[in-house]
Amino acid sequence: MSEKLWGGRFEKSTDEMINEFQASIGFDKRMYREDIQGSIAHAKMLAAQGIISADDAEKICAGLEKILGQIDAGEFEFDVALEDIHMNVEAALTALIGAAGGRLHTARSRNDQVALDTHLYMRRQVREVQRLILELQTELIKAAEKNREVIMPGYTHLQRAQPILFAHHLLAYFCMLQRDYARFEGVHARADIMPLGAGALAGTTFPIDREFVAKELDFGAIYSNSLDAVSDRDYLLEFLSAASILMVHLSRLSEEIILWCSREFGFVELDDAHCTGSSMMPQKKNPDVPELVRGKTGRVIGHLMALLTTVKALPLAYNKDLQEDKEGIFDALDTVKFSLAVSAQIIAGMKVRAADMRRAVEEDFSNATDLADYLVKKGLPFRQAHEVSGKLVHYSIGRGVYLKDLTLDEFQKFSPLFDADIHDAIKPETCVAARNSQGGTSYKQVDAQICAAYDWIKHYGNNN
Ligand code: ARG
Repeated sequence: MSEKLWGGRFEKSTDEMINEFQASIGFDKRMYREDIQGSIAHAKMLAAQGIISADDAEKICAGLEKILGQIDAGEFEFDVALEDIHMNVEAALTALIGAAGGRLHTARSRNDQVALDTHLYMRRQVREVQRLILELQTELIKAAEKNREVIMPGYTHLQRAQPILFAHHLLAYFCMLQRDYARFEGVHARADIMPLGAGALAGTTFPIDREFVAKELDFGAIYSNSLDAVSDRDYLLEFLSAASILMVHLSRLSEEIILWCSREFGFVELDDAHCTGSSMMPQKKNPDVPELVRGKTGRVIGHLMALLTTVKALPLAYNKDLQEDKEGIFDALDTVKFSLAVSAQIIAGMKVRAADMRRAVEEDFSNATDLADYLVKKGLPFRQAHEVSGKLVHYSIGRGVYLKDLTLDEFQKFSPLFDADIHDAIKPETCVAARNSQGGTSYKQVDAQICAAYDWIKHYGNNN
């Protein structure tokens, strides 16, 4: 069994089960790159400040690079008894370079070290999430552009409401993802604050240079209070909350896709490569992928609740409870990234059944508002126009027809304001084209949305 790096004041070695219970190496080994990167910056600073010798710093850095190569190559053996990534790397370093390895932890604690690693890790991962958001957004715009003419019923209360462009519907998701992107930008800003130099909680007696380390690691800011630096998990809570909202958006999109590819809707068909069959029912083609995205939303929200609960009553400064942050954020990261990537594929491979959407518009009354608006434009107050249109809907339902099937005579029985242009006024194309208010569903507005969306992608794609 390995000697503990903190074993000095102990008489007994740690119980096997306790070792296993408190070890985080099983999951925090993910941050090995950040841990080594942070240690190299720390060692350079210690040497620059004359706290350790340049020779020791060189040995430390070379040793750490070697360990990095070993872990990259899968040739490193992690030891549970060494608890976490920090002590695994430090123990390996000392085994490799001898006494100089023991100087690396000068003016540092695992409390500020783990905070540093997690900041670095989150800062890098957030960019990856943002890149995947842009990818899904790109697929949404491409699908909107490809189906630019396709008209579908827009819904409220899941009842057909008014004709809209399918492209308009897809672009609503683009807009949600725009806000998600901005939220992750906020997460990035809060992850971009450097905690190292806080020591265990109170700072250090050594003449360290925090600016030096921040510059080495390209941090935008430095924590100004050492207690806050080791206790803060806000940036992780912000990540989990941004991730939860993003997953809710993906879940809503998935839910619609699931509905749309049901026989009842029949609006889209998913690519065979993105669906699964049934072991029993030979006819089935199931939308498992969007169902899973919808299902996985719960666990990301769960991780947010878990971390909020963990942090809620913690006294300052570091408490081991904080180790519980990692599994949740790692799983949320994996889940969010995977869900974004598969959602982009689903959209890219989705076949749109324009004729079926059209039928759903034609065989219904989603043009009834346009009928009322027609009368308003002829001078009738909207409330009265609403009443006349309602009666015409009622009349049509009674005869088993739709508004478009009524003759001019029939229209005029309900109001003398109806003219020969009424049939044209309630065509789906007319209804759509007429909703030309800013942000509306008209062809013109949707074209403008598509252009603006491409510009946005171009701008942020270059930034990322
Ligand atoms: N593995 C620990 C964590 O993830 C590192 C910090 C441990 N610090 C301590 N004093 N036990 O939080």
